[in-house]
Amino acid sequence: MNPTDHAGLDTARVQRDFPILSRTVNGKRLVYLDSASSSQKPQSVLDAMDEQYRTYYANIHRGVYTIAEESTAAYEHARAKVARFLGAAAANEVVFTKNITEAINLFAHSWGRTNLREGDAIVVTEMEHHANIVPWHMLCAELGTELRWIPIDHEFRLDLSELDRLLDGAKLFAFTAVSNVLGTVNDVRFLADAAHAAGATVLVDAAQAAPHGSVDVQAWDADVVGFTGHKMLGPSGIGGLWARPELLEAMPPFLGGGEMILDVRKDGFVPNEVPWKFEAGTMPIAEATGLAAAIDYLEILGTEAMLEHERRLTAYALDSLHDRFGDRIHVHGPAGTQMRGGIVSFGFDHIHAHDIAQVLDEEAVCVRASHHCAKPLMRVLGVPANTRASFYVYNDEADVDTLVEALERAEKFFAV
Ligand SMILES: Cc1ncc(COP(=O)(O)O)c(C=O)c1O
Repeated sequence: MNPTDHAGLDTARVQRDFPILSRTVNGKRLVYLDSASSSQKPQSVLDAMDEQYRTYYANIHRGVYTIAEESTAAYEHARAKVARFLGAAAANEVVFTKNITEAINLFAHSWGRTNLREGDAIVVTEMEHHANIVPWHMLCAELGTELRWIPIDHEFRLDLSELDRLLDGAKLFAFTAVSNVLGTVNDVRFLADAAHAAGATVLVDAAQAAPHGSVDVQAWDADVVGFTGHKMLGPSGIGGLWARPELLEAMPPFLGGGEMILDVRKDGFVPNEVPWKFEAGTMPIAEATGLAAAIDYLEILGTEAMLEHERRLTAYALDSLHDRFGDRIHVHGPAGTQMRGGIVSFGFDHIHAHDIAQVLDEEAVCVRASHHCAKPLMRVLGVPANTRASFYVYNDEADVDTLVEALERAEKFFAV
């Protein structure tokens, strides 16, 4: 099948904007189905970063000379753009970090140590990425707090039958908007309302939601939302968090040094204002510029068009896999495309996920075979690993067809 132009998203044109997609691997067209791990970058992002390095690169917030001021302006402009993209009320509600892992660690370290005590409870779900588990484990070990888990049901969605009991007395509810393994989309507003009714603060991991522009921190009524630039067409090395201003004001700094101060004396220091008090040391400067260009690109495509494209492609993939492999394939994720993102994880009996990925690589099909940094979830699924194909704006039905054909080859190769 040829690339299809979906309503509102001209995939063939989008593909031409991504230089890497014109290369071949093993003499075959590159089929990139690992965007949930990290997305590819359009020419406009590469150009924006290149232009900064060539014409106005300098450290930020430090120099009074022209290019330093231009560099600082670009960085702060990127912050304002991210804030608008996330539906935030003001730019200084966004703190840049190197990725969402650092953003969640920042919040756990700074807010968690200030607000939690022994016996307090933190609630997470079984579908969290390690980035939204391990910081809480570390806090629990240090403070003696309790970690409670919301289970998943047989349809790979959150089992909310015990939600009120699990939230009872909890201080924090930290959950993902979209599962990076199952593709399940959670009803963030519903969960946030339930948490607030129980008196808990709400942290949303939006690593897999932000790439489609479907984050609205105000409509979600969240308290803290993390994102990571490299999954949303931006460069690696930049991500961050949005948080309610009153939380950010009350939180102590995370890392010390560099520009996060107003003053330093022999007997102490005075931290800078929000958000800079959380941005210690030289920040990812050109990366912020690249992230701003990525958001420009996403906004041109439009959230609705991206989500619709993803739904159609996911439906096509689920149907194709089912038609070709029937009961021999196990898809770990909701069956339909309602409240489901473009992530399709699967396994075959008797074939290891890594073996599948290796055969697929011979066909230039890039998928992820792993526990996807969600080991508690993999234990619930009863598998050590699975194979994940994830779709983004540059993928089309031809990519799905290539995936299915390559899987057929892998199945034959490993036939028992
Ligand atoms: C849901 C989710 N949260 C957090 C992360 C961590 O992202 P990063 O490595 O950019 O910090 C990922 C990455 O796969 C993810 O999918």
